Order: sequence, then structure tokens, then C-alpha cells
Amino acid sequence: MSELKILVKDHGPFLVTGPATVTDAAGNTFDLKGKETFALCRCGASANRPFCDGAHKGCGFQSAERAAT
Ligand code: FES
Repeated sequence: MSELKILVKDHGPFLVTGPATVTDAAGNTFDLKGKETFALCRCGASANRPFCDGAHKGCGFQSAERAAT
């Protein structure tokens, strides 16, 4: 069984790898086109939300959280 991994990219999206589905608030599932890796927008500037389209690079989004160790 594969493990789901989410990488928090500095100043960018959540990079999701592994078996996952993305569902909207109404219960409809987004088509991931069989992708094993995809990026979820966390800046709010994407024209293709909930997915990242690279707009974070031009909107000034800044976020570089680090896990407590
Ligand atoms: S995180 Fe990439 S467009 Fe928002």
C-alpha cells in the first residue's frame, strides 16, 4: 500500500503524492487524470483552484513553515 505524502513547498503549493482524491464541498470529485502527484494551491491566486497553476510566483505569496522537531 502506497503512503500519501504532502510536501509544503516554500512560498508555493502543497505537493501531494500518492493515492488521493480531491472532493469539493458538494461531494463532487475533481478529475486528477490518473496523476500520482499534483499541487494544491494555498496562495489563493490560481485560476484553476483548488490546483496550483504557478500564479504564486507572481502574487507575492510568502510562506515557509517549518515543522517543530
Ligand atoms: S500555490 Fe501555486 S498558484 Fe497558489
